[in-house]
Amino acid sequence: MAVDTTILSARDVMRDAPVIPVIVLHAIEHAVPMARALVAGGIRMLEVTLRTPQALACIEAIARDVPEAVVGAGTVRSAADAAAAARAGARFAVSPGYTSAVGDACRAQGLALLPGVATASEIMAAQADGFDALKFFPALQSGGSAMLKAWAGPFGDVLFCPTGGIQPGNAGEFLALANVACVGGSWLVPADALAQGDWERITALALEASQIKRA
Ligand code: 3PG
Repeated sequence: MAVDTTILSARDVMRDAPVIPVIVLHAIEHAVPMARALVAGGIRMLEVTLRTPQALACIEAIARDVPEAVVGAGTVRSAADAAAAARAGARFAVSPGYTSAVGDACRAQGLALLPGVATASEIMAAQADGFDALKFFPALQSGGSAMLKAWAGPFGDVLFCPTGGIQPGNAGEFLALANVACVGGSWLVPADALAQGDWERITALALEASQIKRA
């Protein structure tokens, strides 16, 4: 089923599945079969990181050829990144940290933004600009689930997508928290599975991830 093409919110992106795959693509020909493999496993919000020269072309290919997926851009660090991602067909953006420049640019481009935060002050800066569905990055290194429990008091109105160090073995611990809507992780799209064209393995990892229970 094709995804609704109306404007998405960050909460829509975070609530679709328990895991947002963090994807690094080095070859354009991997983009479409990889996206189809994830969709076959029940994961359709796909974060393609802007970390390789091929990333924008990969986003463009997925946006054009895999209507069942919703492709977003990760590692968005500037207004120029946001504009390039939107031009390529991204529907949402994920940033490792937060600046008002990135927030403004994503709004101007019609991109839902999951801004990265790791401290209370960063949460307050993002909230001041109207963002309340945030990526907690790097989650494990910044205090993990204990940090999220501490934030639930003062920031009870914020939803988080912890990312960084999350694996099938600890995803459940994060997803059990009421202020966690989903987690992000690179484990769904291993580099060797891409290199070998092992799309079945990616579908199997997505299926497993899509069944992790949420709060
Ligand atoms: C990211 O790139 O956003 C995170 O580093 C992904 O972290 P992981 O590789 O630990 O899942």
